[in-house]
Amino acid sequence: MALKKLKLAIFISGRGSNMLSILEACKDDAYPAEIVLVLTNRPDAKGIDIAKEHGIPTEIIDHKAFSSREDFEDEISERLENYDIDLIILAGFMRILTASFVEQWPDQIINIHPSLLPDYKGLDTHARAIADGKTEAGCTVHFVIPDLDSGPNILQRRVPILDGDTPETLAERVLEQEHKIYPEAIKIIAGV
Ligand code: GRF
Repeated sequence: MALKKLKLAIFISGRGSNMLSILEACKDDAYPAEIVLVLTNRPDAKGIDIAKEHGIPTEIIDHKAFSSREDFEDEISERLENYDIDLIILAGFMRILTASFVEQWPDQIINIHPSLLPDYKGLDTHARAIADGKTEAGCTVHFVIPDLDSGPNILQRRVPILDGDTPETLAERVLEQEHKIYPEAIKIIAGV
């Protein structure tokens, strides 16, 4: 019997390396998910070109064209209706979603964050961890709830902070782990 795959919409704002790691995982016939849409709020997002090169449908909705967050999200919701979506994957999507949008997708939006949540919610996670003299950083995939970076964790990976680490060197090593845990987390949700 053919595997029933989770249909993913990936939301990005930038380079899209996490999107690419999921895209690579989806190439395996046995992987329990497929990408049906990549959506961005940034017309210049590099990841959108990567998605197009792979023949994945894309939607570009420039948030600057809308006078409110609600109008922007209404447009997202309208476009999503054209696709059959099981799960929304936030992968470097740099817009905060309103409670009203999040509540339309209960347990169906997940995010990857470059810290060991609940530590270091928000931005500049690596710089803050280094400044605090921490010995460990990491990344977390979690369900999205209206409170920022606060939903239940699905998967987390720890990365040691080394002597001489800068936010950039640490980010690079954490990103390698992000690329592993995001496809794994989707498998967990698929029940595999
Ligand atoms: C990642 O570090 C992710 O944890 C954070 O934003 C970055 C996105 O990178 N939420 P990319 O666009 O997936 O390369």
